[in-house]
Amino acid sequence: MVAEVLEHLRPERGGLYFDGTLGGGGHTEAILRAGAAASVIAVDQDMEALKVAGLRLESWGDRVELVNANFADAAESDERPLAGALLDLGVSSHQLDEAERGFSFRPGTRLDMRMSAVPGAPTAADLLNDWSQGDLADVFYRYGEERGSRRLAAAVVRRRGERRFSTSDDLNEVLDRFYGPRITVQDRARIYQALRIAVNDELAVLERALVALRERLESAGVFVVLSYHSLEDRIVKDAFREWSRECVCPPQLPVCRCRGAALGKSLTRKPVMAGEDEVSANTRARSARLRAWKKAV
Ligand SMILES: C[S@@+](CC[C@H](N)C(=O)[O-])C[C@H]1O[C@@H](n2cnc3c(N)ncnc32)[C@H](O)[C@@H]1O
Repeated sequence: MVAEVLEHLRPERGGLYFDGTLGGGGHTEAILRAGAAASVIAVDQDMEALKVAGLRLESWGDRVELVNANFADAAESDERPLAGALLDLGVSSHQLDEAERGFSFRPGTRLDMRMSAVPGAPTAADLLNDWSQGDLADVFYRYGEERGSRRLAAAVVRRRGERRFSTSDDLNEVLDRFYGPRITVQDRARIYQALRIAVNDELAVLERALVALRERLESAGVFVVLSYHSLEDRIVKDAFREWSRECVCPPQLPVCRCRGAALGKSLTRKPVMAGEDEVSANTRARSARLRAWKKAV
């Protein structure tokens, strides 16, 4: 959704942009190309992505600054004002394709799912082997919207009593038994995605980054977020809506005691979805939801 991102970010205004999810570098490069006076802080917690995109962006010289960090940390640890901020959440197709990163449910994939190589950070296998049945049920219910979350967590705990989880084959076996012969690709994808969200604490990180980046936007600065999961989208929708309200006092307060003015306004009343052409070229785009917000002048 490069065109839609540019339409909202408007890099032709120039200034400093923050791309918190560099990935393959497509959006960063598009911003640099569209704005002769724009520069980009390009962040990715995946060192591998940074290396590959770094090569692609070499010719842009010091108009792009590469940062290997979590986007919430990168947003909070810098104070330079921003003309625009972009988060294109989730994993890249490159990460899904790399079997050793353990994001995919293809046979024989190690259950890893960490986006960054923090030594000692728990992997998806660690969660399945060590988390309590209740915590696993929460992950399947909250992040995977799995109605049978408790039963699925019980099946995981039973299975790890026999043999510990190590690869996708172990988890697929449990899922095959749990869902039966009518299991769909979507069922697997939901459960794998739920584990990935838990492994990387993705929702808490998103909430932190939203606030930190809003604070750094200069007046009329624009925030664009592309999300692929309903919970991510709800967090973004609620934040943009709350920031656009003039008064956030509890209704029982007789006099307004809050900020008393909207911090900005939403530029998208409904989420913008990818067009037919993009969806047929890239199936991941089907679930993409773009929301944009502009800081008050
Ligand atoms: C969907 S891809 C981004 C694709 C990118 N917009 C492009 O044009 O190629 C998401 C990327 O964001 C990174 N990422 C996801 N969550 C992150 C976080 N909390 N901090 C930093 N990078 C993150 C992933 O490692 C992945 O490379």
